Amino acid sequence: MVIPAFTLDRQMANIGSELTQAIGRIMESGQFILGTSVQHFEEQMARYTHTLGAVGVGNGSDALYLALRAAQIGPGDEVLTTPFTFFATAGSILRTGAKPVFTDIQVDTFNMDPEQARTRITPRTRAVLPVHLFGLMTDVEALRRDFHGLIVEDAAQAIGATLRGNPAGSVGDLAAFSFFPTKNLGALGDGGMITSQREEWVDTLRALRVHGSRKKYHHEMLGINSRLDALQAAVLSVKLSYLQTWTQRRQQIANRYTARLRALQLETVALPVVPSGFTHVFHQYTIRVQHRDDLQAFLKAQGVGTTVYYPVSLHLQPVLRELGYRLGDFPVSEKAQLEVLSLPIFPELTDSEVDYVTDMIGQFYGKRMA
Ligand SMILES: Cc1ncc(COP(=O)(O)O)c(C=O)c1O
Repeated sequence: MVIPAFTLDRQMANIGSELTQAIGRIMESGQFILGTSVQHFEEQMARYTHTLGAVGVGNGSDALYLALRAAQIGPGDEVLTTPFTFFATAGSILRTGAKPVFTDIQVDTFNMDPEQARTRITPRTRAVLPVHLFGLMTDVEALRRDFHGLIVEDAAQAIGATLRGNPAGSVGDLAAFSFFPTKNLGALGDGGMITSQREEWVDTLRALRVHGSRKKYHHEMLGINSRLDALQAAVLSVKLSYLQTWTQRRQQIANRYTARLRALQLETVALPVVPSGFTHVFHQYTIRVQHRDDLQAFLKAQGVGTTVYYPVSLHLQPVLRELGYRLGDFPVSEKAQLEVLSLPIFPELTDSEVDYVTDMIGQFYGKRMA
């Protein structure tokens, strides 16, 4: 059996014609940047995330950068985040002139450890930037107990996830989403969005994405050009109507993986956890294993695609050398980079494909399903 780590082919077969119609309507409208379809999608997203306002931008990296800029974070400020994330998280902090300060992750959730975060807060810490990795939210409520400054959520992977009933995007002061095509809600290209509970920031963000201008050709602040385009907004509006169903299917797939892998009783394999009070949207189903590279090669030979998110923690990235971190500084993250393996997961994956993947993992470890 050949099972890709990820594919959009099946989604396109299901809803491609609906997307084509939506794109056709934009082509006829002649309005390609911002405009009514972007505004409509922003309103949908604000409702979906229980936030006051949503601002569409060019991609998730700009969403993070502009969220920090709206809160006036810049040179001299420290922003606390984790090293076990996509580069954009730290890159966006550096773009503002602020300094990323790393704090380690929890071994089971891959998210920021609130206990350790507390010890890394200094008088310069202007914001904490938790990453809701793989579709599970960080315990922002625990962070808030010790930190009364800004919380900016990196919700790029967590649309629809909740923490005690509150959706990703609504628990921080600001939050950034990505609509990169492989995300749970993906565009047909790049796209991003910032949500916020504060009117003032929503208003500032609308200016920041168009070179700091509220009135055409009048520039009040230094912004950038980062706008969501109308075609992507129209596509995303259509896809948003399927998101709940897709998320439920991801959760079913995850439950099936977990039940079958648990039945194999593999001592060296750790499965994803969903702490009580959280819902996980399984952007990734990521296990931790010993002999990870051998397992990945074995699965590949059996036709199963897998991915390693992330092979190098950010504190060890050459471009961030000047932050002064060294190997050994974040042991949980460093261990994770050697052990993580994300199994195929997308809503159209079939039960028999899940079974094949777990059978192959069992075969690798020399076990069979009971
Ligand atoms: C955790 C995280 N943060 C930020 C981003 C940046 O989003 P984008 O690729 O849309 O710029 C991504 C996605 O790629 C991500 O996974």
